[in-house]
Amino acid sequence: MYSDKVMEHFEHPRNVGELPDASGTGTVGNAKCGDIMKMDIKVENNIITDVKFKTFGCCAAVATSSMATEMIKGKSVDEALELTNKAVAEALGGLPPVKMHCSILAEEAIRAALTDYRQKHPQG
Ligand code: FES
Repeated sequence: MYSDKVMEHFEHPRNVGELPDASGTGTVGNAKCGDIMKMDIKVENNIITDVKFKTFGCCAAVATSSMATEMIKGKSVDEALELTNKAVAEALGGLPPVKMHCSILAEEAIRAALTDYRQKHPQG
C-alpha cells in the first residue's frame, strides 16, 4: 500500500522532537481522524535553520512530516509557506488516495508554525 520511501521515512523519521528555543510553534489536528501534530521551527535571518515535529498520527502522517521537515530546512519563510502536501506526497513516491488527508497535517502544521513566527516577529 505504501511506497518504499514512505516506509523508510516512517521507520526512520527525520527531525522528530521539540525545539526548546523555537521561533514559532504550530499545533494542528486532522478533522478526519482526530490525529494531532506539533511543529517547532527555528528561523534565523528569514531562513529556517531547524525544524522538529511530534505527532500522534498514522504512518502516512509521520512519513509526510518527516519529508516535509527535510524539504523546508534551509528555505526562506516565504518558500516554506509555498510547500504543499501534494509536493510532499510526490517526493515520497505518492500516497494511497485514502491517505492523502494525512499529508495535510504536515502542511498545516508548518503553516501554523510560520504564522506563529510571523506574529512574534512582525518585522520579518
Ligand atoms: Fe490520521 Fe493519517 S489517519 S493522520
